[in-house]
Amino acid sequence: MIFHRERLSPAILLFREFHAGCYIRSRNHPDPGPGAAVPERDYPIIVHFVPNSLMQTIIGQDIAVAASLLRKDALVAIPTETVYGLAGNALHEAAVVAIYEAKNRPRFNPLILHVADIADIETYAFVDAVSRQLAQAFMPGPFTLLLRKKEIVPELVTAGSDKVAIRIPAHEVSRELLRRVGFPLAAPSANPFGYVSPTTATHVLQGLNGKIPYILDGGPCQVGVESSIAEVSGDKVILHRAGGISAEMITAVTGLPVVTGVHTATPSTPGQLKSHYATRIPLYKGDVPALMKQFPDKRMAVISFTRSYPVATGSHLFILSPASNISEAAQKLFATMRRIDEMDVDLILAEDFPDTGIGQAINDRLNRAQAIHK
Ligand code: TXA
Ligand code: MG
Repeated sequence: MIFHRERLSPAILLFREFHAGCYIRSRNHPDPGPGAAVPERDYPIIVHFVPNSLMQTIIGQDIAVAASLLRKDALVAIPTETVYGLAGNALHEAAVVAIYEAKNRPRFNPLILHVADIADIETYAFVDAVSRQLAQAFMPGPFTLLLRKKEIVPELVTAGSDKVAIRIPAHEVSRELLRRVGFPLAAPSANPFGYVSPTTATHVLQGLNGKIPYILDGGPCQVGVESSIAEVSGDKVILHRAGGISAEMITAVTGLPVVTGVHTATPSTPGQLKSHYATRIPLYKGDVPALMKQFPDKRMAVISFTRSYPVATGSHLFILSPASNISEAAQKLFATMRRIDEMDVDLILAEDFPDTGIGQAINDRLNRAQAIHK
C-alpha cells in the first residue's frame, strides 16, 4: 500500500513524527531519564526510521481483540507451546498473502493449518487409520500431520501441494482463539524468514514490529522448538522435521518404522531448507575444544548442554541445563541464540547435543543454523 503524504491526516503525521522521535538515540549518551537536564548536543544524533511505521504493533492478552482482527483478515501473532506463530485466516487469500509478505517468506514454502480439535481435521484433510492413531496420541501437542488436503484448503496455504500440514496447538489461549473465530489459522513461526523462531512476545516484536497490529501474549513457550512434522506413507512414517514428538514415540504408537526427511538447499519437499534458524553471528557446531583451537583470538559465545568449558576474557558460556534436562535445554535454545546475537562476540560455538528425543530437534536446528550453510 502506498501512502501519499498530502492525503494523510494530521493525526497520522503527528504519530509518524512521534514514532520517529522515539527512535532518536545518541551514540555515546544514553537516555538521561525523565526530569534530567538535557545535555548540550556535542554528539551525532542517529535516527532510525522504522519501515511501515504507520502500523503500531501492540502486545496484549485480549483474545477478543485478536479474534476481531483475524475476522478482518489482519494478522495476529499467537502463542503456542512450541514457538509463537504468525496467524491469519487460512481460508482467505488476502490474509494468507499478508503472512508471506510480513515474513518475507518465499511462496514455495507452505504453511501449517492450526485447528482447535481433532474433529476439525477431517474438514480439511483425508485422515487414514494410522494418522488418526497418531492424532489421538499426540494432539493437541507439538506434532503436525501431513495429510491429503480437501478442496476447501486454498493452494496458497499448501504452496500448490495436494498435501496439507495440520496441527492443534497445546496452548489454551490459542485453542480458545481458534474456537472463537471458527476458521482455521495458517501460522508459520512469527519470525522474519530464515531467522531464529520466537519463543516470547518480545521476540516477535523484535522481528515484526510495525508489520502486524497485535501480538497475543501467552507467556514464554514451554517446548521451545517447532513441532515434529510426520507423514504416514504406506508401511512407514516419514518424519519431515524433528520436534517435541520423537521417532521412538511415533514407533511406539504405530508399530511402524520411522524414516527421516532429507535437508536440501532447494527442497523438493518444503520444510527441508538446509539453511534456517540462522543467527547474525556465525555459528559453528561440533567438538567445542577443537573449535576453540581452530579460532584462536576470537571472542565467542559457547552453547553447551550441561558441560562447563573454560572461556577466555570477552567470551561467554551458556549452559542450557545444568541439571541435564534435555527439555529444559530445548526450551531455552532459541532465546539463548537470540540473546547471544545481540552480544559483542565474533562467533557462536555449539556442542553436539544427545541425539535422542527432543535432542534430535536441538541438533537439527543448530545444524541448520551453521555458518557453512549460508
Ligand atoms: O511448531 C510449529 O510447527 C510452529 C507453530 C507456530 O505452530 N509453526 C512452524 O511453522 O514452525 P513454519 O512455517 O515455520 O514451519 C512449518 C514447516 C515449513 O518448513 C513448511 O515447509 C512445512 O512445515 N510445511 C507446511 N505445510 C507443508 C506441506 N503442505 N507440505 C510439506 N511441508 C509443509
Ligand atoms: Mg519457521
